[in-house]
Amino acid sequence: MTAQAGVCAEPNLHAYYLMFDILPGCQPAVRAALAEVPALWRELAQGYPDAHFSGLVAVGDRAWDGLYPRARPSELAPFPAQQEGKRVAPETPFDLFFQSRADRLDVLHIAVQRLMALLADKAELKYERQGFRYLDSRDFTGFVDGTENPQGEHRAEVALVAEGPFAGGSYVHVQHYRHNMAKWQRLSVQSQEDVYGRTKVENIEYDSDKKPLTAHTKRTSLKDGAGNSMEILRQSMPWGSAAEQGLVFISCCNTPLHFTRMLDSMFQADGAGHFDHLMLFTQAETGSAFFAPSQEWLERQGE
Ligand code: HEM
Repeated sequence: MTAQAGVCAEPNLHAYYLMFDILPGCQPAVRAALAEVPALWRELAQGYPDAHFSGLVAVGDRAWDGLYPRARPSELAPFPAQQEGKRVAPETPFDLFFQSRADRLDVLHIAVQRLMALLADKAELKYERQGFRYLDSRDFTGFVDGTENPQGEHRAEVALVAEGPFAGGSYVHVQHYRHNMAKWQRLSVQSQEDVYGRTKVENIEYDSDKKPLTAHTKRTSLKDGAGNSMEILRQSMPWGSAAEQGLVFISCCNTPLHFTRMLDSMFQADGAGHFDHLMLFTQAETGSAFFAPSQEWLERQGE
């Protein structure tokens, strides 16, 4: 099975994110439209080889059964919303998620226009955001984002379902974060580094015993009962305008469990009151759970 290229795509310069809700009664038409999407991804990748285009479409957990009543990925579940005092990560379900990535903005514009035409009168656009690489792949907090991501062939091992009817697919979680830049900039560099458990300019990980229990990298480095690392592949990119900045956080994984456990560890205080202090400086405004099937699976549903 061939995964959609956007799931394991290497970092590049630009991204465009779209989310849609399917219009009442339009499920069969959307199913047919989505069957054409892998061919569109291939056409754009081949038509503009210098752009390194990759695409991804994923279907929301609540929309799945209406769109594909015959089969459902076994672990597809609602977004694991969080609420602990003032710390909130809401669930905001959307039916369809599209991630288009390229090194050329004009090619992304073509991709977006083609998707809009494909879904015209079938689905309503609910979310639109452009992401871009900031400096050497840094988040707007100034720290390199993605360093500890799985590399090479390991990306596919982490991100893709290995066997069964949904082999080559991926569980996708998306959150739109808005940063409080003024609050963040009031911190000293040392305090910012403690928030992540990494140094800022050189991007070096703290020794484990020096990492605060509130550090973002401490709260998200988790092991399962057998001592294996619970990994995800992050495809996040910063977004920004004159007035506002943030991150479109994207996790791709062969199970939703790893993201769910990480989010829990970030938001819920442990017995000693520790939670992820990065969450004091950014607010999750959306949270949606999707599944991105393989190219062949999507194409077969159109037959
Ligand atoms: C690591 C930024 C949200 C999971 C990191 C790093 C940065 C970062 C700068 C360190 C370098 C790296 O390894 O990539 C952010 C920002 C977020 C955010 C700005 C939101 C505004 C999340 C969420 C999750 C997550 C929601 C999962 C639920 C991870 C993981 C690591 C990481 C697994 C690697 C930890 C390690 O093994 O050291 N993040 N992150 N992050 N983040 Fe996030």
